[in-house]
Amino acid sequence: MESYTIESNKKKSRLPARLDFAQSATGLILGLFIWMHLLFDGSIIFGKKAFSFVTGMLELSFLSDTGHGYPIIVFFAVTLISILFVTHALLGMRKFPNSYKQHRIMADQVIMTDHMETKLWYVQAITGFIMFFAGSVHLYTMFANPGSVDPYLSADRVVSGNMWFLYLVLLVCVVLHANIGLYRLCMKWGWFSGKDARKSRLKLQMLRNRIIVFYLIIGVLGILAFTIVGMGHRDKVGERYLGQVTSSVMPQLVQTRYTVDSNE
Ligand code: HEM
Repeated sequence: MESYTIESNKKKSRLPARLDFAQSATGLILGLFIWMHLLFDGSIIFGKKAFSFVTGMLELSFLSDTGHGYPIIVFFAVTLISILFVTHALLGMRKFPNSYKQHRIMADQVIMTDHMETKLWYVQAITGFIMFFAGSVHLYTMFANPGSVDPYLSADRVVSGNMWFLYLVLLVCVVLHANIGLYRLCMKWGWFSGKDARKSRLKLQMLRNRIIVFYLIIGVLGILAFTIVGMGHRDKVGERYLGQVTSSVMPQLVQTRYTVDSNE
C-alpha cells in the first residue's frame, strides 16, 4: 500500500513523450529526404546528361565560374543527414528487443497473431538494424568524397568500387523502412484521418504499397543504369564526365583531357 502511494505521487516524466516526438520528427525529415534522394538519383535512368544536370543544380553549378558547382554543399548535406540518421537510430534502439528471450517472444507473437501492424513493426526493426550498417558505409563514402557525385564517378563506385550489392540491400531496406515509417506517422498523429478513419486507413495502406513499388522500381532501374554506365567506363575509372560543364570552360577542360590522353 505504501509503495503504491509513493508510485502514484511521483510526477510522471515527460521524457518518453519527448523522445517519441523527436523520433517522429527525425523520421519525417529522413523519409521526405529519401523520397527526394531516390528521385534525383533515379535521373540516371534518363542518361548521364540528366544525372549530371540534376547534380549540377543541387551543387549550384550555375553560380560557379568553373561550372563544377560547390561540393561543400554535399559535405554539409551529408553531415546534417548523418546527424539525423544517428539520432533517429539511437532513439529507435530504445524499442528494440534487448535480449534473445525478448526477441523470441516478439517473433512468436508476430507468427501467432495475424496482425499486420505488429508485422510492420518487426519489418521496421529489422530494416532499421541493417540500415544502421549499410547506411553508415554509404554516408561515410559520400562524406569522404563530396566532390565525386558525377555520372561516371558514381557509376565507377557502383561497378568498379563494388558498391552495387550494398546499394541493392540499402535500397530494399530504406524503401520499406521509410514508407512504412511515414505510414505509421500518419496513423500515430492522425494525419489524413478524414471523416471515416477506417476508409482513410485503407486508402493510406494502398498509397503506401504503391509508393513502395514505385520507389523499388526506380531504385532498381537506377542501379541497373549505373551498372551499364560503370561497365562501359571500367578502363577509365576516376575520369569525370565532361558533358554538363558550361560552354565557356568546356574547351579548356577538353584541352586538359586531350593533353593527358596524348601523353599516354
Ligand atoms: C546527404 C546525404 C546523401 C548523399 C549526398 C547521397 C548521395 C548518393 C549518390 C550520389 C548516390 C549514387 C551512387 C553513388 O554516387 O555512389 C546514392 C545512392 C543511393 N543512396 Fe544515397 N546519399 C545520401 C544519403 C543516403 C541515405 C541516408 C540513404 C539511406 C539510408 C541513402 C540511400 C541510397 C541508396 C539506396 C542508393 C542507391 C539508389 C539507386 O540508385 O537505386 N542515401 N546516394
